[in-house]
Amino acid sequence: MERTLVLIKPDVLERKLMGEIISVYEKTNLHIAAIKIIKPTEQIAEKHYIEHKEKPFYVELIRYITRGEVCALIIEGENAITEVRKINGDTDPEKAEPASIRGKYGISKTENSVHSSDSKESSEREISIWF
Ligand code: PPS
Repeated sequence: MERTLVLIKPDVLERKLMGEIISVYEKTNLHIAAIKIIKPTEQIAEKHYIEHKEKPFYVELIRYITRGEVCALIIEGENAITEVRKINGDTDPEKAEPASIRGKYGISKTENSVHSSDSKESSEREISIWF
C-alpha cells in the first residue's frame, strides 16, 4: 500500500472544475483517504516547492499556487505514486497524453492543474506539509 499527495491547483478551482478532477481519481482502484480545501500561504508554498527554489520559474510558481484555493488529497493504493502520475500526465500540458488530466485541463507548464508526489520520500514530506 502506497500513498501520494495530490494538489488540485488554483486554475482548476477558479474554473469550477474541481469535481471533474476528483471524479477522475475516484473512478480508479485508488482510494481518497483525505481531502481538504486550503488557500496556501507563501510559507506553505515555499516549503512544498523547496526543491525548485533556484529555478527560473520559482517566483511565478509561488505566485500562482498562492493566488487562490487548492484542493489537497491523500490518495492511497497499490503503486499510488506511479498510477497518479500516469493519470496526471506530463508536467507540460502540450506534451501530456490528451486523455490525461494535464492533457485535458492544463493551460501551461505553470498552470498545469494538478501536482502529485514523485517518490515515497516526497509523498511523506508533502503529506506532512499539507495535512
Ligand atoms: S523540473 O523542471 O524537471 O524540475 O520539472 P518537474 O519536476 O516536472 O516540476 C516542475 C514543477 O514546477 C512547475 N513549473 C514549471 N516547470 C517547468 N517549467 C516552468 N516554466 C514551470 N513553471 C512552473 C511545474 O508545474 C511543476 O509543478 P508540480 O506542482 O510539481 O507539478
